[in-house]
Amino acid sequence: MEYRDHALYMEGVALAEIAERAKTPCYVYSAGEILQNFRAYNDSFGDVPHSVCYAVKANGNLALLKLLAEAGAGFDIVSGGELFRVLQAGGDPRKIVFSGVGKTMAEIEQALDAGIFVFNCESEPELGLINALAHRRGVKARVAVRVNPDVDAATHAYISTGRLAHKFGIDIADAPSLYERTRQLPNLLIEGVSCHIGSQLMDPAPVMEAVDRVLGLIDRLRASGFDIKHVDLGGGLAIAYKPEDVAPAIAAFVGDLRARVAGRGLHVFVEPGRSIVGNAGVLLTRVLYRKRTGEKEFVIVDGAMNDLIRPALYGAYHEIVPLRQCGRGKMKVDVVGPVCETGDFLAREREMEEVLPGDVLAICSAGAYGFAQSSNYNARGRAAEVLVEANKWRIVRKRETFEDLIRNEIDPA
Ligand code: LLP
Repeated sequence: MEYRDHALYMEGVALAEIAERAKTPCYVYSAGEILQNFRAYNDSFGDVPHSVCYAVKANGNLALLKLLAEAGAGFDIVSGGELFRVLQAGGDPRKIVFSGVGKTMAEIEQALDAGIFVFNCESEPELGLINALAHRRGVKARVAVRVNPDVDAATHAYISTGRLAHKFGIDIADAPSLYERTRQLPNLLIEGVSCHIGSQLMDPAPVMEAVDRVLGLIDRLRASGFDIKHVDLGGGLAIAYKPEDVAPAIAAFVGDLRARVAGRGLHVFVEPGRSIVGNAGVLLTRVLYRKRTGEKEFVIVDGAMNDLIRPALYGAYHEIVPLRQCGRGKMKVDVVGPVCETGDFLAREREMEEVLPGDVLAICSAGAYGFAQSSNYNARGRAAEVLVEANKWRIVRKRETFEDLIRNEIDPA
């Protein structure tokens, strides 16, 4: 995004035009930025056999999935719903990895029928269930065990996953004996090891530490006769939310991974979500009112915590900029939505450009875990979503209507 003549543009489109026609609140994504980030991953692996499996949970809009599928991406899914989305978008099932601690029987059957590449398994009973369901179908299911390397990812507590106190994976120390026991499960192809230690990782060092531990495990498994063919290193790379933040560059990060796996004959999988779509999206919201209480100055906007819950849930920072630079000077405000909770804020004590009712603001870095975590709280229809491609834009998800809100409520009469 950049200002041209004081108007904010995404690629070749003035965001004000989208706000006017698609209305607000509204998510807008840049196709160019998404593809650039995907290619940064894909190209940086060079001649190392690899699969970049986009983490659908970050943003599952069909248009984005289609864009990525056409660019050659695989997908990391965590539910039957995400599998359905990927298939609807034309994604290749043979490039799907299925993660998650609580896969249901129905989801495993759905994934077996679709022919996904691999299940990243997180417990011994899950391995047993997949084996049984594969047996019933007369097929073999490829599995990797997700191991927990017990490293501190140094990120927000809710999205840190690599310590033994977390529900994810199995303790890396227990992995060799678990792999041994899986030899008894004839309908499994035990060909991988997977790991994911957390999200919004500003420091790649803990990831590299985890990678080294996982590679150590792979050496040991291979020495015991397991034909480990691939390693899945998860997602987690951070993006810059604040202008002064410096997030690790994708190419440098992949370069470090490459250096570690080199010469082992492993196919490398990664599962990035945020670093592909996060900075490719904004939430547009219009200023409704300004008001001052005894202590504070508020900017009340038409977007709310139901649209973007990250500030309320994680205390997350999202940069907020006006679509038109008016040079009115600075103000220090809380930017809040219409939802009836004090937790409904998009920014607190924020120093930003002075804005007035009617102005439209862009809440930046909202492409990942923005729409995906939105809800109908306060009976608010979910926002529209728009995709920008060069000089064109189109609505890729309609704003929800009042009828959409009640569609599934069956009148008992
Ligand atoms: N793979 C696995 C197994 C994961 O659990 C996740 C994210 C990813 C890949 C993708 O991670 P990413 O590259 O996007 O960091 N709602 C939170 C983030 C939750 C992340 C959950 N797992 C937020 O808004 O910050």
